[in-house]
Amino acid sequence: MSKIATLEIDGKKYEFPILIGSENEATIDISTLRSVTGGVTTFDPGFKNTSSCESKITFLDGEKGILRYRGYAIEELAEKSDFLEVSYLLIFGELPTTAQKQQFHKDIQKTALVDEDVKKILDGFPKSAHPMGVLSALTSALTAFNPKSVNVDSEGDMYRAVCKILGKFQVLVAWTYRKEEGLPLAYGHNSLGFVENFLKMMYESPIEDYKVNPLVVEALDKLLILHADHEQNCSTSTVRVVGSAHTGLFASLSAGISALWGPLHGGANQAVIEMLEAIKEDGGDYQKYIDKAKDKNDPFRLMGFGHRVYKNFDPRAVIIKETAERVLNDLKVNDPVLDIARNLAEIALNDEYFKSRNLYPNVDFYSGIIYRAIGIPVPMFTVMFALGRLPGWIAQWKEMRLNKEAISRPRQLYTGETLRPFVEESKR
Ligand code: CMC
Repeated sequence: MSKIATLEIDGKKYEFPILIGSENEATIDISTLRSVTGGVTTFDPGFKNTSSCESKITFLDGEKGILRYRGYAIEELAEKSDFLEVSYLLIFGELPTTAQKQQFHKDIQKTALVDEDVKKILDGFPKSAHPMGVLSALTSALTAFNPKSVNVDSEGDMYRAVCKILGKFQVLVAWTYRKEEGLPLAYGHNSLGFVENFLKMMYESPIEDYKVNPLVVEALDKLLILHADHEQNCSTSTVRVVGSAHTGLFASLSAGISALWGPLHGGANQAVIEMLEAIKEDGGDYQKYIDKAKDKNDPFRLMGFGHRVYKNFDPRAVIIKETAERVLNDLKVNDPVLDIARNLAEIALNDEYFKSRNLYPNVDFYSGIIYRAIGIPVPMFTVMFALGRLPGWIAQWKEMRLNKEAISRPRQLYTGETLRPFVEESKR
């Protein structure tokens, strides 16, 4: 393949290098476009064709259904690794040795206390507040309690900031849940593994012992791994864009949480269960919902279907579907919504509309079924996604700062009014 792309504007030719990634992906480097052409830019709403950065963290091939973190296949990581190890891998680039892993866990545990004043902030929210709004606000508030900004050029400083956010974030997630449930705020215990500890913080009751169910630990660990990173998606791009202004880590993460909240992104897992419930309430008429999704005059979309990048299948959905079937079986949960999901997927996958547009179940289609089976309420689903995505956001923020990326500042195609004289109020 030629390593040069030629662009012709008004008979004048310009050459731009074609960069090739380690998986042979080609991208035209147009970073000099404006200066050499005297102001021409590219137009790509939604960044569907734009590589916004160079990254070594996650590779995904939407046509082939491939997802890899730092070169390791998601299928292998989900089967053989755990969330803590995957977090380390994403953030620091390599799987940890046993000693590194133990130290990492200890260093995270050391930071897992949150300033007592955070409780006062949490107190100020109404119980009805959406947990994503609460989590985003509390994460941003961490900046106030940790005002010293991270020196990204110091490995030690960066490592300590990573441990701090990994330790405190799980407390914020658990407290967000407990606030909504009206439960007293609790801490975990350093004798427990990362996921076990999180579950204890979520579910422990002051009036009885809490026994962690290993099946639940295993299922949640897998879900967190599957959500841990997904290259330049909406929330991750948000974290990188916000961080590119040298905004602090916690504030950048808080912006990422807000982006994830949207129903077209992480909020889809909540929307899926609500949709499946609505179909159940409606007597299980799947075809009606398929028809609504196909109707261009109806804003309804089949939630949990389609993906900006995966145009064949979402490898995470394959693993999650199997896990959902197993978890429900192991926990002896009979959730009619799983049958509805199976049937709906079956109809959609054989429907020409969905086939021709390459619309397949995505990660969110089945994840809510597992969350429900392990006792997580629907409004908390996206919060669980955020807990999983945290190491990915951190890794991408760190990479962006270490790459010394310029502040994000896109251009636009202006189609508004040209210069016109001001109209006095009496003449409008
Ligand atoms: N139901 C019905 N039609 C759909 C759907 C859907 N879920 N998704 C896409 N389409 C149609 C869309 O109407 C368009 O049709 P046409 O070509 O006739 O105009 C075509 O498929 C292409 O859609 P698009 O909006 O251009 O595709 P996109 O790549 O911009 O959007 C998406 C990707 C995920 C936002 C979209 O598929 C969607 O809204 N899905 C439902 C929400 C969802 O499940 N989101 C979770 C994504 S995975 C988790 C994550 O990464 O956050």
